[in-house]
Amino acid sequence: MPQFNRHLVTAALTYANGPLHIGHIAGCFLPADIYVRYLRLQGRDVKFISGTDEYGVPITISAEREGISPQAIADKYHHQIKTSFDGLGISFDIFSRTTNDKHREVAKAFFKKLYDAKVFVEQESEQFFDEKANKFLADRYIIGTCPNCANEKAYGDQCEKCGSTLNATDLINPKSAITNETPIQKKTKNWYLPLDQYQKQLEDFIGAHPEWKTNVLGQCKSWLSQGLQARAMTRDMEWGIPVPVDGATGKVLYVWFDAPIGYITATQELTSDWEKYWKQDDSKLVHFIGKDNIVFHCIIFPAMLMAHGGYILPENVPANEFLNLEGDKISTSRNWAVWVHEYLEEFPDQQDVLRYTLAAQMPETKDNDFTWKDFQLKNNSELVAILGNLVNRVVVLMHKFYDGKVPETKGCDELEKICGDFKNSIAKSIEEYKFREALMEVMNMARHGNKLLTEKEPWKLFKTDPKEAGIVLYDCLQLIANIAITCEPFLPFTSAKIMKQINLERQKISWSDIGRQDLVKPGHQLNPAELLFSKIEDEAIEKQVAKLVKPAATTLEIKEEKTTATLAQKQEISFDDFAKMDIRIGTILEASKVEKADKLLKLKVDLGYEVRTIVSGIAEHFKPEDIIGQQVSVIANLAPRKIRGEESKGMILMAEENGKLKFMTTLDPIANGSEVR
Ligand code: MF3
Ligand code: ZN
Repeated sequence: MPQFNRHLVTAALTYANGPLHIGHIAGCFLPADIYVRYLRLQGRDVKFISGTDEYGVPITISAEREGISPQAIADKYHHQIKTSFDGLGISFDIFSRTTNDKHREVAKAFFKKLYDAKVFVEQESEQFFDEKANKFLADRYIIGTCPNCANEKAYGDQCEKCGSTLNATDLINPKSAITNETPIQKKTKNWYLPLDQYQKQLEDFIGAHPEWKTNVLGQCKSWLSQGLQARAMTRDMEWGIPVPVDGATGKVLYVWFDAPIGYITATQELTSDWEKYWKQDDSKLVHFIGKDNIVFHCIIFPAMLMAHGGYILPENVPANEFLNLEGDKISTSRNWAVWVHEYLEEFPDQQDVLRYTLAAQMPETKDNDFTWKDFQLKNNSELVAILGNLVNRVVVLMHKFYDGKVPETKGCDELEKICGDFKNSIAKSIEEYKFREALMEVMNMARHGNKLLTEKEPWKLFKTDPKEAGIVLYDCLQLIANIAITCEPFLPFTSAKIMKQINLERQKISWSDIGRQDLVKPGHQLNPAELLFSKIEDEAIEKQVAKLVKPAATTLEIKEEKTTATLAQKQEISFDDFAKMDIRIGTILEASKVEKADKLLKLKVDLGYEVRTIVSGIAEHFKPEDIIGQQVSVIANLAPRKIRGEESKGMILMAEENGKLKFMTTLDPIANGSEVR
C-alpha cells in the first residue's frame, strides 16, 4: 500500500436536466461527503470535486420538453441543483459546470492530444438521418413500434412500456421525433477510442484492485470478459463541445468523453496546484458514482487517461446501487421522486434527518427502498429517542445540578477505551466505504450513553451521593463530546448543535481527539439545552405520501397479479417434500450472455461455501452488467443439467408478475450460503 499524502475525491457530475432527488444523494453525493468530511477531520489534504454535466442528449430532451434552449436548461438546473446541495450540507470544494469556457478548452486539448498521438481510429457507420431537419438523429430522437410489446411510442434506445433496451434499428416503422418524417440511413465518420487495444492494461489495472466492491468488480469483469470494443468519442450533434480538428463540422465530443474530463477542469479552477492531485503517485483518486456509471469510470475514462499519459488512475470507484422510492423506481419524467429543494422547504432545519435516513438505507450492496414510514421511524425512534434524548438529558441535568458548569472530577479510563474502540471501528468502516456500518457504530455510542444514564440514574444519585452523580454526568458529557466528532461526517448540522450546547469550538477539534475524556474541562461553562430533533407526526408523513401520485398502470398490474396468483395453485405437498430442497442465498459474481441463446445468461454465483455456474433463462429480463452483486436464492441441491453445452448446477428462484421477473431475496444483505427455510 503506497502512502497517500493527498486525496482527490470526485462525485459524479449530475446532468443539469432536472432537480436533484434523494436517489442522487444516496447514490453518490452523501457517501462522498461523509468520506470527505472524515478525511478533513483527520486533517488530511483533500479536494472534493463535482459539478453539473451539461451536454448530451438528456439536456436537449429536457430543453425541448420545457421549450427553452439547452443552455437555458443547464443554467436553470445548475443553480437549483447547487442550492440544494448547499442546503443539505454536501461540502464540495468546487461545484463546476461543463459548459464553462475553461472546460471546453481543457476537453478540446485532451482530445487534440489523443488525436495528434494517433490514438483514435476513424470509422464510418450508418446513422439515422432526418432529411427535413438536415440532422443526424441520436437514438432517443427516433420513435417507433417496439418489437417486443408493440408499444407505438418506443424510443430508439429503450421502450418505456416493457422496459427493454433497444437499438434504433430494432424499431418497426421508425420516425424522427423532430419532424415525424421517416429517417434515412446515412454514412458518417467518427473517431473511436480503440478500447480493445487497452484491454490488457485495463485488466492489469482492475486486477490490481481485488479490494473494490463486488458490484463494481463484477461489472468490470463482465465487460472485460466480453472483449472490449472501440467506442465512438464523437457524435453527430449540435449540442456539445465542437470536435477540434479539421473535417469535423457538425460533430461534437461524446458527452461521456468530455464529462469526466470535467473533474480535471474543476480541479484546475480550484487550485493552481491541481497537477499534484492528478499527476503524483502519492495522491489518492476516488470516484463516487452510481452503478450506471461504472463502465465509464472503471474502463473508458481510465483508458482515456492511459492514452493521454501523465495522469494517475483511480484508487477506488465505490459505486452504489439504486435507491427506489416506496417500492417503485425513482423517475424524473414520471415525477416519482422526493425532490431535495422541496424537502428543504417542507422540513426546514431537518437536513440531518434526511441525511441520516439515506445513510442508514444507502444502497451499498444492492438496490434499496426509501419509504416515508421508515423516515418517520428513523427520526422518532433513533434520532429523537437515542441521540437527541441522550444529549438533552445530560445538558439539562448539568444545568439543573451545576448551573451548566462542568463539575470538578477526572475522566474515566474505561470510557476512554470504549471511545477509542469506536473511533477505530468507525474509521475502518469509512475507509472501506461501509457507511451504513459506520453510522450504526455512531449510534451505538449514543446507546452506550443512554445505558449509563439508565443504570446509574444520576438524577437520583445526586441526592444520596452527589460526588458519584457528578462523575456519571461528567462521563456522559465527555461521551457526548466524542459523539459530536464521530457524527460530524454523517450529521454535520447536529454535530454543530451539540458543539454549541457544550460550548466547544469545531476548529479546535479533530478526529485524533476521539477517546479523550477531557474534551470539556472542569469549570467549563455550557450553553443552554436545545432539542436536537423533534418528533415527526403521522400527518406530516401522510402529506408526503399523498404528494406521490402512483401511475395508473400500477393499480392495473396489481389486479392482474391477483388473477395469476389465484389461478396458479398447485397440489398440496408434505413438509418432508419441502424440506428436501436446499435453498441458499448467493451473490451473482459474473454474468454473461450464452451464445446463440437469447434467453440464457450464464452466471457465477457465490454460495459462501463454493462458487457455482448456473445457467438461467433470464436474459430477456436483465442485462448482465446490471445484476452483478445481486443477491439471489438458489436451489442448491437440484440435479446438475447440461444447458446449451454448459453444466448448470442449481437454479435461481424468481417471482413472476405479468411476465416480469424479480429476484427472491432478503430485505437486507445477508451472508452467502445462508439457508432459506
Ligand atoms: N451525468 C452522468 C450521470 O448522471 C454522470 C457523469 S459523471 C462524469 O449519469 F464522470 F462523467 F462526470
Ligand atoms: Zn416494448
